[in-house]
Formats: sequence, C-alpha cells, structure tokens
Amino acid sequence: MDAIKAITSDRVTFRKDAVSYEPLNYYGKNIISTEMSEWKRHRAIAAPAFSEANNALVWTETLRIITDWFNQLDATQRTEKSASNNAFSDLAIEVVSPMATLLITSAAGFGRRVSWEDDSAAPASGYTLTLRSAVITAVENFFFRMLTPDWFPAISSIVKVPFLSARVHATQQAFEELGRYMLELVSSARASVVEGRSSASSAALLHNLVEANTSPEGGSKCLSDGELLSNIFSFLLAGHETSAHSLGFAISLLALHPEAQSKMYAEVRKVWPEGSGTVGSSSVSFD
Ligand code: HEM
Repeated sequence: MDAIKAITSDRVTFRKDAVSYEPLNYYGKNIISTEMSEWKRHRAIAAPAFSEANNALVWTETLRIITDWFNQLDATQRTEKSASNNAFSDLAIEVVSPMATLLITSAAGFGRRVSWEDDSAAPASGYTLTLRSAVITAVENFFFRMLTPDWFPAISSIVKVPFLSARVHATQQAFEELGRYMLELVSSARASVVEGRSSASSAALLHNLVEANTSPEGGSKCLSDGELLSNIFSFLLAGHETSAHSLGFAISLLALHPEAQSKMYAEVRKVWPEGSGTVGSSSVSFD
C-alpha cells in the first residue's frame, strides 16, 4: 500500500511516460500529455469539475442512458425473438459499453445530452459519422495523420491508390467531423461563460475549459485554442475507452462467475429493493 501511495503521489520521482502521449498533442498540449508546471495549469482548470455534484450527475445520466438502451432492446426483442443470449453478451461488451460510456462522458462532462437512439443509429444531421465513430477513427489514425503532409489528401483524391486513398479520406473525414463536433460543444458553453453563469451546471468540465480559454493569456488558469480542443478530445477519449474496457471485463467476468453475479445482484437489491426510481418519474427495475 505504501509503495502504491509513493508511486502515485510523488510526481517528481515517478513521472508519466509523456513521450508516448505525444500523439495526443495533435490539436495542442493537454492534461494527459504534460508534466510539472504545465500539467499543474491544466489540472487546476479541470480538477474542480470532478466534484460530488458531478458524481451525482454521472449517476443520473448513467440511469437515463441505460434505461434508454433497455427500452430500445425491449422494442427490438419483441420483433426479433431469435436474439440469443450470446449475441446479447457480445453486444454488451463490444458495442454497448463504449457507446454507453461515451454518451455518459459527453453528457456529464460536456452537457451533450442525447438519447441512446439518437447516437446509435445515425450520425447527427450534417455529419457522416457519429461522434463515437469520429473519435475512434481519429485515434486509430493519429500516427497516419501525423505522417502524411497536408497536401497529401488533395493528391490522393485525384490519383487513386488502392487502400491508401480510402484511408486518407476516412482519416481526413474523421478529423474534420470531430473538430466540428468539438466546436459545437465549445460554442454552446461559451454563451454560458460570457453570461457569467456558474460552473455548477451540467457541463462543469466544459465550462471550466472554455472559461480558461477566455482568461488573459499567460495566466495561471489560461488555455490556448489548441489546448482547449486538445483537452476536450483527451477527456472524451480518456473518459470513455478506459471505462468501456473495465465494464467489458466486468461483464465477462460476471458471466464466468455466476456466484459473484448473484452476490452483486443481492447487494443491488438490498440497496434498491424497489428499483432505483430516479429516472424522471419511472423506476428502473432490476428484475
Ligand atoms: C475505469 C476507468 C478508468 C481507468 C482504468 C483509467 C486509467 C487511468 C490511468 C492508468 C491513468 C494514468 C496515466 C498516466 O499517468 O500515464 C489515467 C489518467 C487520466 N485519466 Fe483515467 N481512467 C479511467 C477513467 C477515466 C475517466 C472517466 C476520465 C474522465 C472523465 C479519465 C480521465 C483521465 C485523465 C484526464 C488522466 C490524466 C490525469 C493527469 O495526468 O492529471 N479517466 N487514467
């Protein structure tokens, strides 16, 4: 325990592997890719958003999103009786966990409250990719994007090279659409910052980041335009992929260990004998 404490709290001796995070600096530097005084500045801006009020918001948003998903699943199963349990668990691990965690991160951190249905089927109007596809494609092609000069996409759309042109196009599209999704988030938050509304709103993280972007340059709580976009991108990514993988493993392990599953279920029933009852007026049943 003492060793864990020392490693996680002594940031001078145990530094993070900042070099391996360099690809995250595409838009600018961010809380993940920086160290020492630069990191402290990013941290001081973002940290206050992770409060008890925000934890409560994460919980209500999780209930809303999972209830949305269950409702959609119920409707589908009424028409597709053949859906097997295996298909359900594969779906839960590969699709649902990352979808759910991205929707929760973007709602609780950035005030983007969309329904399950809105984001699972089709991209938003004016886009060819959903937010999740744009985030994932951009991440998967980060190195590729960094290694290709800016004039390359224009050339490759004229001179078609098998596989390469398609990848160049997909990468360019993902970065362009992700940039637009992020700017939409920024412009919705800028109004509340300009009007002087408090950060105790639903999008405390975004509010704090945008507020720092409007602070005088060089200040201890200031973010440049590039750092603003870079932090939004990093939180979207860090907040959803990690939680999705943890959930994926948790679901698989619970399926492999029914005794642990029963224990967990009993504890859930003890805390909420009547279901959670906190999504709008309808209760979430655990039966
Ligand atoms: C089960 C879920 C999660 C796991 C396993 C996880 C894991 C980690 C690990 C291992 C680090 C340290 C990386 C390093 O120092 O090299 C880290 C840092 C970080 N994580 Fe997570 N994380 C999770 C959830 C989240 C969520 C939900 C968010 C945001 C909403 C988030 C945002 C961050 C940020 C911003 C950092 C950098 C912090 C700093 O350097 O000050 N993570 N995470």
